[in-house]
Amino acid sequence: MCGIVGYVGKRSCLPIILEGLRRLEYRGYDSAGITILEDGRLETRKKAGKVADLENIWKSTGGSATIGMGHTRWATHGEPNDRNAHPHHDCSGSIAVVHNGVIENYRALKIKLEKSGHLFSSETDTEVIAHLIEEFYEKTTDLAQAVRLTLRQLDGTYGIVVMSARDPEKLVAARKGSPLVVGYGEGESIVASDASALVEHTRDVTYLLDGQLAVVERATVTVKNLEDVEVEKAVEHITFDLEQIEKSGYEHFMLKEIHEQPETIRNAMRGRLLAADGEVKLGGLQDVMEKLVAAKRIILVGCGTSWHAGLVGEYMLEQIAKVPAEVEYASEFRYRNPLVSKDDVVFLISQSGETADTLAALREAKGKGATVLGIVNVVGSTIARESDGGVYVHAGPEIGVASTKAFTSQLTVLALISLMLARAKGMAKRDIVALAKELDAVPGKVKKILEDAKVVADIAREFKDARHFLYLGRGANFPVALEGALKLKEISYIHAEGYPAAEMKHGPIALIDEHMPVVFVAPKDAIYEKVISNLQEVKARRGRIIAVANDDDMEIQAMAEFVLRVPRTYGFFGPILNVIPLQLLSYYIAVARGTNVDQPRNLAKSVTVE
Ligand code: F6R
Repeated sequence: MCGIVGYVGKRSCLPIILEGLRRLEYRGYDSAGITILEDGRLETRKKAGKVADLENIWKSTGGSATIGMGHTRWATHGEPNDRNAHPHHDCSGSIAVVHNGVIENYRALKIKLEKSGHLFSSETDTEVIAHLIEEFYEKTTDLAQAVRLTLRQLDGTYGIVVMSARDPEKLVAARKGSPLVVGYGEGESIVASDASALVEHTRDVTYLLDGQLAVVERATVTVKNLEDVEVEKAVEHITFDLEQIEKSGYEHFMLKEIHEQPETIRNAMRGRLLAADGEVKLGGLQDVMEKLVAAKRIILVGCGTSWHAGLVGEYMLEQIAKVPAEVEYASEFRYRNPLVSKDDVVFLISQSGETADTLAALREAKGKGATVLGIVNVVGSTIARESDGGVYVHAGPEIGVASTKAFTSQLTVLALISLMLARAKGMAKRDIVALAKELDAVPGKVKKILEDAKVVADIAREFKDARHFLYLGRGANFPVALEGALKLKEISYIHAEGYPAAEMKHGPIALIDEHMPVVFVAPKDAIYEKVISNLQEVKARRGRIIAVANDDDMEIQAMAEFVLRVPRTYGFFGPILNVIPLQLLSYYIAVARGTNVDQPRNLAKSVTVE
């Protein structure tokens, strides 16, 4: 959840590190810091606040340094202030460490180190790493060996980069549970927690695996395991463009990503959906197809927005493919000793592919013999690698902290899986072709919704001062209500709740008065009339109704104060369309309130701690 970037080469490292940190800032942004090696000494400057604040304190200095590293933080231990910002140092100031993750046994280690005379200057768990390396470096005089011995003392998770003034030409990087990628340039090497920080300089990279340690030098990168045995590096080529991680003229990444959805949804289907033949080809599931078809049940696991995608997926799998499905919060699943066996198939849904709880759920299910499959966006991420198979959603880099395009791509992939299973389980070809054609038409319909974004912006201004919001939907649109509420909470800080519309009268109805905005997701599907009854109940209590309704639904006009229009589609694909106006609504409300849309307070893009 924090960001790391380190550089060693021929060029001035500072601008490269600062630019890398800017690209990583979406991962954590409460403080930032940089260490460089200049005139044989480590020079560190760090600061609470944004990377822009850090840039100010480095102005016109450090230009000659060609090795250094930086960090942007999302606080876990110790408040976000200058002192707790990374990099952290040993007592002598000649060793510096940046760290993503959590060291669980840091208190015990700190007490021990303090007893032997080490002086600490922060409240972080990370600082123990620097002091431990100092201890071992005295004995071994080999930085990599000192890091290796240190790592053996640590419980918890880490992605670390270490540098030392006494070993001035190398960075030592190691990972356990927190991603790190090393990029190979011409006479230079870059290490980062996320490929977006280095893609500007090189596209040839190695993703470190858990338990690996890399010695990163200008011209060489050596990867070893913790037993000091060299391991073969898999060199991969990054295919996404720099353009994809830039704003392309949009005011915010979130808005850009909302508008990319016609394309990203299409990408999720590209080469996989042959609509006219009713065929779905998902290469990553081919080897497990027998298991999938025979599965007694499918369990969908994720967190946050990805969990909401799972809730919609449950409807798709049960109603289209007729397979019993269950949905679990990853954070609950891992701790309740779930009854999972080798007859189960577990799908882990994750944009980042690094969410700690989802990864732990994967390992829990795998340990119990289940087949584990990923529905993941970030290529090469840990969940993707540890799964028995899976499907990439191909949404491209998602930078806005609030997930938008990854969600609709996850839903598209779940729809594809459902169609593929339905076919394998004998659904008539005619019926599959009809559904496949509906799915194929979804990107065009999303485009049409986005053409009316301005209408949503006008409505948003009307509600910018609301203190609470209720989102209601039924069936597969109940998760859409949850997702709409989550988006609003995350970026505008307005309290919002999602509820199944019929549940409203069992409690939340008490909240309705003339000040309460209530968003109904009300497409013309099999339960439309039921939703309309719930809408009438709100209207009778003078709630302010915003309805997401189909283009041809004229009836609703008279009941709702505002109507957000979406085209019709097949019911279980409806959530892909219905969520779009809700993404826009939360975006424009946040803009009207002047919040930081792409970097909302307290949040991080990828939650790699428990
Ligand atoms: C919501 C959001 C989070 C993530 C959740 C899971 O906008 O971004 O709720 O959906 O943290 O993250 P991934 O999908 O990366 O596992």
